[in-house]
Amino acid sequence: MPNFTASAPGKIILFGEHAVVYGQPAIAVPVTQVQARATVAPGIGLPQGEIQISAPEIALDSPLHALPLDHAIKQAVDLTLTALGIQRPTAFKLKITSSIPLAAGLGSGAAVSVAIARAVSAFFGRPLADEQVNAIAYEIEKIHHGTPSGIDNTVITYAQPVYFIKGQPIEAFEIGIPFTIVIGDTGIASPTSIAVGDVRRAWEQDSTSYDALFAACGEIARNARTAIEQGEIGALGPWMNENHAVLQKMGVSSPELDRLVEAARAAGAAGAKLSGGGRGGNMIALAREVDPDRIANALLDAGARNVVVTQVGNKQ
Ligand code: MEV
Repeated sequence: MPNFTASAPGKIILFGEHAVVYGQPAIAVPVTQVQARATVAPGIGLPQGEIQISAPEIALDSPLHALPLDHAIKQAVDLTLTALGIQRPTAFKLKITSSIPLAAGLGSGAAVSVAIARAVSAFFGRPLADEQVNAIAYEIEKIHHGTPSGIDNTVITYAQPVYFIKGQPIEAFEIGIPFTIVIGDTGIASPTSIAVGDVRRAWEQDSTSYDALFAACGEIARNARTAIEQGEIGALGPWMNENHAVLQKMGVSSPELDRLVEAARAAGAAGAKLSGGGRGGNMIALAREVDPDRIANALLDAGARNVVVTQVGNKQ
């Protein structure tokens, strides 16, 4: 059996994070500059039926059976083998590498799940369909994030821009004119599950105020979709600024995110906001009629740990 490698991109949420968990629309796009990669090789030298996992970036080198039951990598392998109906697999080695920062709002967990499901199923000669891969990645998101909307696994599985409403089929979504986004990383790890859980508790205590904030995000996402489809990129900046203001009211920004957002705007970004779960992780800025490197340098000067410039368009 030959080796099989599969990779999956990172993602950013352009509009609608958190509110999407409560049924509002959101817009997300893949970020192909960062990738998770899974390689499956025959288990030469391993005991019969053993699955050996290595993930150098998290210092993991272990047989699958020795991992805790709730380990995300173990779950991805087990769910894939179950989907294939394989109870006693031949021995294999699975190596996972990723350039997607962990707990940074760029979808590292979902990308690793997608890459594993694709590589393992291809190794056994029966590559899973996108819907099956997406369903596996969503199962793992549910175990680890409590109440995910499903947007992360969806945009990463299909690797195309998505206009997403929880529980509904993805809608075709055209990008009228490609545009450039600068992504700035605060360097602060912030697991999505914590921010999502805090928002849920706040919503339970004051559902009227939070429902109004979620509705405001939904309205912004709907307007932004129209602007993107019609190529009215200039309209997106103010929507980003407004979305960030609503996320601040939701309590998911942080001084570090606000500092980077302000720095991007001061450097000429048409708009900027946090992206993903918030509290730490990444922010995004729209580079329009300004050199993206100018914004990138301003972000680094303001303390960003890392900066990525990405083009948003239908062909990534
Ligand atoms: C995380 O990338 C996006 C959130 O809206 C959570 C979710 O949709 O599951 C914060």
